[in-house]
Amino acid sequence: MALSRSSMIFFLVMALVGVCFGAVYRVGDSEGWRYKGFDYQAWRLDKNFTVGDSLLFVYKGKDSVVQVDRKHYQTCNSTDPISVTKSGNDTITLDKPGHFFYITGYKRHCDLGQKLDVRVSVPSSPSPSQSPHKSSATSIPSPAAIPLMMAMAVVLSSIACLII
Ligand SMILES: *[C@@H]1O[C@H](CO)[C@@H](O)[C@H](O)[C@H]1NC(C)=O
Ligand SMILES: *[C@@H]1O[C@H](CO)[C@@H](O)[C@H](O)[C@H]1NC(C)=O
Ligand SMILES: *[C@@H]1O[C@H](CO)[C@@H](O)[C@H](O)[C@H]1NC(C)=O
Repeated sequence: MALSRSSMIFFLVMALVGVCFGAVYRVGDSEGWRYKGFDYQAWRLDKNFTVGDSLLFVYKGKDSVVQVDRKHYQTCNSTDPISVTKSGNDTITLDKPGHFFYITGYKRHCDLGQKLDVRVSVPSSPSPSQSPHKSSATSIPSPAAIPLMMAMAVVLSSIACLII
């Protein structure tokens, strides 16, 4: 598969912008990560998460942030986690596009709504409807190449962030 040079540079620049200057979203704003009466689904509605942004979960006590898959998210089942953090000040960098699911380790609290799913998109990806005059023949890689390129670009740009 031939990856054009321009598309590599495109992704590198995008990832550099994302990783070095990504937004930090404090989950639940001043409420933080807690179970009583906060609507995390509503909280995330007006936000656009892009690669390079991060989520900051702030909480006290023995709570945790458990990343799970969709099925375990729906049933508040934290027994087969993708990752677990429990520092009380957990920064989770959204380093790839996709749909990600986070729940508390307390099933009862999760059942009461302490759960969050976020859709992460590629930053400033050109949408055909927004740029009708731009030729699409040059730099748009095939969809299958995007995850690989994103991963490469994020690694490269992380190194670049350390240097600059
Ligand atoms: C999120 O993206 C949508 C669609 O592109 C846009 O209409 C909306 O203004 C964006 N919201 C924020 C907070 O950037
Ligand atoms: C929770 O998930 C585990 C692992 O996928 C599964 O074995 C278990 O049956 C699930 N528990 C419930 C109550 O669904
Ligand atoms: C929590 O983490 C953020 C980002 O890593 C940091 O800026 C902040 O100082 C930390 N706060 C505490 C109380 O550790």
